[in-house]
Amino acid sequence: MNLREIIHSRRSIRAYKPDPIPEEDMKELLLSLQNAPSASNRQPWKFIIVTDNELKNRIAELCFRQMFIAEAPYILVGVGNATDAWRGKGTYVKNWEIVDVSIALDHFSLAAWEKGIGTCWIGAMDDKGIAALLGIEEPWHIIALMPFGYPREIGNHRGRKSLEQIISYNHF
Ligand SMILES: Cc1cc2nc3c(=O)[nH]c(=O)nc-3n(C[C@H](O)[C@H](O)[C@H](O)COP(=O)(O)O)c2cc1C
Repeated sequence: MNLREIIHSRRSIRAYKPDPIPEEDMKELLLSLQNAPSASNRQPWKFIIVTDNELKNRIAELCFRQMFIAEAPYILVGVGNATDAWRGKGTYVKNWEIVDVSIALDHFSLAAWEKGIGTCWIGAMDDKGIAALLGIEEPWHIIALMPFGYPREIGNHRGRKSLEQIISYNHF
């Protein structure tokens, strides 16, 4: 798949096979996290890969019982550090770790899809509960989760707003 095909065919995956990811492919996915851009190259991030079944189940429960999350063989946890992050100037964004970690997670998602590995962004969660479970302490905090693994089912394309609705030139 070329980049265009990866971007256009990616779907959120909510049903996973238990099959493990070969070591070499996993390494490449981890490099996609490492190579993401970050504001002022601060890299205010850490990533946890959860494979333990009991932890995965607890995490899924703490995501308002989205139990498909525990079906994935892996859950990627994106963790940011506001203290390390670049401090925004002249914008409403005070610390950029949320943006930085999000970019890295999205690179991961696209790199995974190229290998036939599905992901799903997870934002609906009790982040404090999951942080306590995984031993994440201030100033670190969870930005988002991403279960990943080979898809058991691939859902349909969710519609998108038209280009006319979202793009303008020169003025808002
Ligand atoms: C920041 C963010 C948080 C999300 N949180 C959840 C979630 O908690 N549970 C879920 O099933 N999907 C979640 N999604 C996935 C979206 O529902 C999905 O991306 C959207 O419906 C478009 O579908 P697609 O990814 O298949 O194109 C989230 C996506 C983003 C970007």
